[in-house]
Amino acid sequence: MKMKIALLSGDGIGPEVIAQAVKVVEAIGKKFGHHITFEKGLVGACAIDATGDPYPDATHEICVGADAVLFGAIGDPKYDNDPKAKVRPEQGLLRMRQKLGLFANVRPTFTFPSLVHKSPLKLDRVDGVDLVFFRELTGGIYFGEPRGRNEQGTKAFDTNVYSKEEIVRLARMGFEAAQKRRKLLTCVDKANVMATSRLWRETVQELAPEYPDVKVEYEFVDAVAMRLIQWPKAYDVLITENLFGDILTDEASVISGSMGLMPSASLGAKVKLFEPIHGSYPQAAGKDIANPLGTILSASMMFDYAFGLEAEAKLISDVVNQSLAEGIVTEDIAEGGKAYKTSEIGDWLAARILS
Ligand code: IPM
Ligand code: MN
Repeated sequence: MKMKIALLSGDGIGPEVIAQAVKVVEAIGKKFGHHITFEKGLVGACAIDATGDPYPDATHEICVGADAVLFGAIGDPKYDNDPKAKVRPEQGLLRMRQKLGLFANVRPTFTFPSLVHKSPLKLDRVDGVDLVFFRELTGGIYFGEPRGRNEQGTKAFDTNVYSKEEIVRLARMGFEAAQKRRKLLTCVDKANVMATSRLWRETVQELAPEYPDVKVEYEFVDAVAMRLIQWPKAYDVLITENLFGDILTDEASVISGSMGLMPSASLGAKVKLFEPIHGSYPQAAGKDIANPLGTILSASMMFDYAFGLEAEAKLISDVVNQSLAEGIVTEDIAEGGKAYKTSEIGDWLAARILS
């Protein structure tokens, strides 16, 4: 198969982890006889530095012209510490998601057999966890208007807005995923307080009869925040709005042992985007120590979700599991044992794929 992949490394550790994913993707191409080409684009703080715009039109054109987008991370402390900055790297990511129509962010949480003992949670709670979030990605409080400050600058406001249509399209993806999995769907909301959440709940209730094989549970987000840590095996597919999904998926990453391990896929339109859920981790940038596995597993999701190539996707997750089992790990997982460099992990995985 011919594949054109847009490579958006972004900021911080983005370029290093993307470089490892490229090694792995190229090895897969070689092994399975695919013709894979890459085109690089700027996004985030590096794009602001170069062009003044965190998501330049040229980058959008590259994404639209590609078969899939592989994205690293975005963010720079110089903006985090300057709440008055007019342009922010994160705006690039949000605009990219919106302009590409990526309304659903699929974030699986699973455990790795050789790492379960490293989770801060008790083994019987995390062993065998397999759940997936469908986070709404282009609506809600991230985008709602009005937002900003009053004239005196003494009050700030954000607006949470959801249309029925936005909820329906995300919920349907969740229902369909549940049908292929353990047939349990949890609608996460705050319907006891928020009008948007009541629309979510009502809409999901209306859709439920169309999926009679799926059991639907409705749970408030605060309760989910607790149960997710207490008994994560209670969940299969969770659907939720943008902000709740952002927060809960960081929390869920603790289950697997390291945030550096968790991939995601953003879906909704022709061009799909794949990115690790971790951020730009500026303290580690350029040191060759960051964990590239979240990005490499995102590349695995890319073969599956963007190209329907399950064997390729599985081979990547298999070699990742082998590397973990054999202790070929970065320092976030090594915990005092031998730590490998970011680049060594990429080399090892690529060699294993071709062996
Ligand atoms: C994520 C990130 C982003 C988000 C930030 C960088 C804007 O935290 O992908 O989860 O909040 O969506
Ligand atoms: Mn986040």
